Amino acid sequence: MTDPILLTPGPLTTTRRTKEAMLRDWGSWDTTFNALTASVCQDLVKLVHAEDTHVCIPLQGSGTFSVEAALGTLVPKNGKVLVPNNGAYCQRIVRILGYLGREVVVLDFAEDEAVDPERIHSALLADSAITHVAQVHCETGTGILNPLSEIATVVEAHGRRLIIDAMSSFAALPIDLRTMPVDALIAASGKCLEGVPGMGFVIARRTALEAVAGNCHSLAMDLHDQWIYMQKTGQWRFTPPTHVVAALRCALDQYLEEGGQPARLARYAENCATLVSAMRRLGFATFLDDTVQAPIIITFHAPADPAYDFAELYRRVREKGFILYPGKLTTVNTFRVGCIGAIDADAMRRAVAAIDAALREMGVMRFTA
Ligand SMILES: Cc1ncc(COP(=O)(O)O)c(C=O)c1O
Repeated sequence: MTDPILLTPGPLTTTRRTKEAMLRDWGSWDTTFNALTASVCQDLVKLVHAEDTHVCIPLQGSGTFSVEAALGTLVPKNGKVLVPNNGAYCQRIVRILGYLGREVVVLDFAEDEAVDPERIHSALLADSAITHVAQVHCETGTGILNPLSEIATVVEAHGRRLIIDAMSSFAALPIDLRTMPVDALIAASGKCLEGVPGMGFVIARRTALEAVAGNCHSLAMDLHDQWIYMQKTGQWRFTPPTHVVAALRCALDQYLEEGGQPARLARYAENCATLVSAMRRLGFATFLDDTVQAPIIITFHAPADPAYDFAELYRRVREKGFILYPGKLTTVNTFRVGCIGAIDADAMRRAVAAIDAALREMGVMRFTA
């Protein structure tokens, strides 16, 4: 039986070539592995046009580890962070800052509303103690896209620092750090780069990083220390996820062959449009308006029919070869379908056919209340 296609925001479906890149064992001290790490980091910085200003620091672990490391390393102990909040990953940043004991100001938005730069402007105007803004680019909890460029302009105009969680947007949506003033951009191997999970990375402004030696609360999370050690030795400080790095190198090669960011965005946008129109034909409604929807993951309202049950839909769709994703909203019953990974529009059409068949088997007829 073939593996199911993952319609999730990572781990996601990878190519056979990427999986095969993990069939070799690498010594962490070996110069060939050090060269692999260096080439991956170089390409990641280039991808956002930041070779002249920023450096890439890789970190073992899932994406959250890198978010925590970036905040813990870059925000001074007496810093104060504004978090514009329109979803679950914004709330995770708030939680992390709580653990780190950093002062936080939360600016709440509805979960179906993009962050408004004008309100960030007012919040910064009202509180001169705020040193940093921490912003999620694509809020994967719903799939909403926040206006990064406008937010960066406002933060810069107030002379504050910007830290971006670009976990689910990096490599797919355009980000150009030559024109966008950002101190740190955080992402991971197993999202739109289509590598496997296990490694995050932070693209940090060199001058910002140089200024924070000794600031981090944690040895393992200290990006400054990781950066200094890597510069000196070419090695990771602690056991690196060797196979993950090798898979990411291979995934980056395929990314460049495909045509880089514009080509990846075009494929995901086609996946998204195909999915949304086919699901709407079945009777589903999207949680977000099309104007704020990123082509990464789509939240659908659950059918109102009493015969609907997500666990049952999941099981039946899985039997047909596709893995769905539960909703992350507390007030509305939803589920999510990712459109990223090594998949195309044909996979999206087959996935919707599987959802249609599963709903028929379950006797789900009614979509609206
Ligand atoms: C925007 C965003 N931030 C952070 C994370 C956390 O990543 P992880 O689950 O890999 O720790 C994710 C994961 O999907 C994400 O989408």
